[in-house]
Amino acid sequence: NIPVIAIDGPTASGKGTVAHRVADKLGFHYLDSGALYRLTALTALRRGTDLRDEHALAKLAEHLPCHFAGGEILLAQENVTELIRAEEVGNTASKIAVLPTLRHALVGLQLGFRKTPGLVADGRDMGTVIFPHAPLKVFLTASVEARAQRRYKQLIDKGFSANMEDLLMDLQARDERDTHRAIAPLVPAEGAHVLDTSAMTADEAVETVLKWYAA
Ligand code: CDP
Repeated sequence: NIPVIAIDGPTASGKGTVAHRVADKLGFHYLDSGALYRLTALTALRRGTDLRDEHALAKLAEHLPCHFAGGEILLAQENVTELIRAEEVGNTASKIAVLPTLRHALVGLQLGFRKTPGLVADGRDMGTVIFPHAPLKVFLTASVEARAQRRYKQLIDKGFSANMEDLLMDLQARDERDTHRAIAPLVPAEGAHVLDTSAMTADEAVETVLKWYAA
């Protein structure tokens, strides 16, 4: 019975950083499920796939030639680790993530990340849909302002341009879509521990999750 720690939460809540560090500390594997939606989005944008064509998108998702190694994300042979973080890719990911057939096409790929000694899974529906029996479920959140500031810094650090007002609007639009979509809406899973990180450092959030896991 391989343990899973499910960490879900809204955009820019710090999930990625926290989930990654928790995985490192425990020596667990790490699933960045958002990257799978982003990889599908990037492929669709490049091919000019109609973003309403659920079946074409599901097909792309099912055959994603992706590879995760040492923090790098490869699509076929290309390193797209940075590229998939672009706002356009994130926005497209959030738009196509409302499509049930596409979500369904990504399930098998996600379940395959669960390997010994354990997995930390980061996303929107890890605790509600993909790993409902995870022994620890965390809903990581933060205020819209704190999240916009984090996203701003993240984008600038990566060499992208960013505008705070646009970011706030994008964040709110994405929250709206993620929370109100008909399939796998973003809500705390049953039994999830809610962690508001607005006034916390990443290290403090990591310590809290590890403490819950040990309890
Ligand atoms: O970085 P950010 O939190 O904005 O996004 P992400 O975790 O990389 O995910 C990109 C988009 O994929 C999100 O806006 C979600 O709409 C979608 N997603 C999802 O629907 N389910 C997941 N398990 C993960 C991501």
